[in-house]
Amino acid sequence: MKKLVALTGAGISAESGLATFRDSGGLWEGHNVEDVATPQAWQKNQKLVLDFYNERRKKALEAKPNRGHELLAELQHHFEVTIITQNVDDLHERAGSKNVIHLHGSLFESRSTLDPALVYKINGWQLNPGDKCERGSQLRPNIVWFGEMVPLMEQAAYVTSLADIFLVVGTSLVVYPAAGLIHEAPRGIPKYIIDPKVPDIVPQPNLHFIAEKASSGMETLFRKLKS
Ligand code: OAD
Repeated sequence: MKKLVALTGAGISAESGLATFRDSGGLWEGHNVEDVATPQAWQKNQKLVLDFYNERRKKALEAKPNRGHELLAELQHHFEVTIITQNVDDLHERAGSKNVIHLHGSLFESRSTLDPALVYKINGWQLNPGDKCERGSQLRPNIVWFGEMVPLMEQAAYVTSLADIFLVVGTSLVVYPAAGLIHEAPRGIPKYIIDPKVPDIVPQPNLHFIAEKASSGMETLFRKLKS
């Protein structure tokens, strides 16, 4: 089976009702990113950060995968698929995708602020001040914040380097290192970008734009791949 690697971003979950980051005037659900998604924000106001992610978690639990997620899962019948997602929701998994790399972490995990190897599943939607790891330190969301290392980047780059087809769905391609993955994919393989607003990237051979929302764009792609 050919290997298909898909890089996804907030745009694929937009039709499930989850807000993207850069489509709302630089604010993310009313907050500046620096106030809620940086190590500095955590130092300054843990409760604000925890509340912010509790709200994100609650919304993600209420959301359902859309046709875009479902069609990506269906591709597994035809290709060996790996999804590299910048999203912290679990909609790819709930749509049936088996092989998902969460580059920016997961809303449904917490981790120790003392030992990053101590990671726990979050049941329900709340992580609160006073919730502690087994060594007694406060738990934080297991999310990669701005300014932090991206531990799964090496694995993502390796998988991308082996791709036969590379797909980008619903990401503005402005946040690095994730945005650089498209350049790690072998030159000349078919690459497709599905996004109603085509991102500004250097042209490459065999790069195709599908300027549609994720659900209809994935239908278009399905037809293209079949023909
Ligand atoms: P952005 O908000 O930067 O980009 C969302 C992209 O989705 C844009 O290119 C939109 O045009 C597109 N879009 C909007 N609606 C869509 C739809 N229905 N179907 C398809 N595409 C649609 O989100 P990301 O690129 O995911 O990081 O942002 C990257 C990272 O920046 C995030 O993972 C997050 C962040 O702020 C952290 O939290 C560390």
